[in-house]
Amino acid sequence: MEFRVKRAPRIEAEITVPGDKSISHRAVIIAALSNGVCVLRGFLPSEDCLRTVQAMRALGIKIEQPTPELLIVHGKKRFLNPPAADIDCGNSATTMRLLAGLLAGQQFDSRLVGLSTLSRRPMERVITPLRQMGALIVAEGPNESPPLRITGANLRGVEYDSPIASAQVKSALLLAGLFAKGKTTVNEPFVSRNHTELMLNYFLVRTLREGDGGISIFGDQTPESRDFTIPGDISSAAFWLVAAAAQPGGHLLVRHAGLNDTRTTLLGVLIRMGAQVREAIEDVDQIEPRGTVEVTGASLRGTVIQGKEIPQVIDELPILAVAGALASGTTTIRQAQELRVKETDRIAAIAHNLRAMGAQVIELNDGLEIHGRGSLRGARVASFGDHRIAMAFAVAGLFADGETIVQDAQCVHESYPDFGKALDEFMNPKRVRMTTPVISSLTPSRSDEE
Ligand code: S3P
Repeated sequence: MEFRVKRAPRIEAEITVPGDKSISHRAVIIAALSNGVCVLRGFLPSEDCLRTVQAMRALGIKIEQPTPELLIVHGKKRFLNPPAADIDCGNSATTMRLLAGLLAGQQFDSRLVGLSTLSRRPMERVITPLRQMGALIVAEGPNESPPLRITGANLRGVEYDSPIASAQVKSALLLAGLFAKGKTTVNEPFVSRNHTELMLNYFLVRTLREGDGGISIFGDQTPESRDFTIPGDISSAAFWLVAAAAQPGGHLLVRHAGLNDTRTTLLGVLIRMGAQVREAIEDVDQIEPRGTVEVTGASLRGTVIQGKEIPQVIDELPILAVAGALASGTTTIRQAQELRVKETDRIAAIAHNLRAMGAQVIELNDGLEIHGRGSLRGARVASFGDHRIAMAFAVAGLFADGETIVQDAQCVHESYPDFGKALDEFMNPKRVRMTTPVISSLTPSRSDEE
């Protein structure tokens, strides 16, 4: 599958985006550990999140899915069955890392496998601290890479200073900590997204904040079953927010988006670059704040993104790099070496594709320096099998002269299965307004209606 993209007409739209990917994984896992039936609405039925659903089913949890976004999870009070076969995590690193934490403290053995692309992702980051807790994990690939063979063990709480700010590492250790004796503490150099701790708290599991960026959990707690509605994924909204921000006169409202402040740093970056951004939290009842984001576009200017902002915009950096290429002046991204170990080496992929589209880019070890020229030219670009690279460069194509072709774009199914439909709507707003629910309503002028 490929995307063929042409320049977008003026953006004047009101949209919703599918459920948050990070929160969907966590909701399924924690509901499965709870003491009863939990109804999860707004679930993201993407390939990655469905891997987590399949994994929990393989561990003996009944999960009904009457509609793609609705899950009914029958929690079994922390009780899991030994899986009958290997658990296939596909291309989902979140599934593999979180499950490694969950399974390390069970009384049975398990084996986590995935696609060859997942087997190239670093797992040492979760294996090392889990072993400190007493986990018995053998990584069968080179350099501690998957498959992971886990022998059930009795875990003990430890205090771990993580060298990287990673929500997946933190979450793996918190899930292991739930099954460990005593207190497990994770300290990180900068605060990463906090969905696991919030989700645990929502299910009435106590966690403790410790000083700057530390979080603790005591073992032996059982989540209380609750219903939960997953908000829209701000990282999916980011593609359209940047599209509207980079178009002088563009105007976009995103409704029902997750507005957790460990995820909204993107909005501050867009403001720095010159866009007008308003965010209105409309609901905090279910612990994850949600509401509306409004963006009005402008001629963007370059900015610097580094330090503690990096973990909080890590998934938005590909589309922010595109924003940088459309801005005047230089956009610098530093201390973002984590991008090299995502679904692809995102630093190399961004540099390659931006150059193909005529931008001037310097690739740094830990980031990029982008000399914006305010324009791009259409080109044939690669997804590198990475959903966020595919989507970022489809949006770049909305601003390019001529046609842009994004090859191998089927990977968008990992996080945003309907991205292609939404892209079509932005290219042909009138036609699509009637055919797809992704854009719930546009605000057309009167003549559009006739
Ligand atoms: C995620 C955390 C981030 C992010 C990934 C999803 C999560 O990764 O890039 O897409 O759900 O915990 P790291 O925790 O490795 O930084």
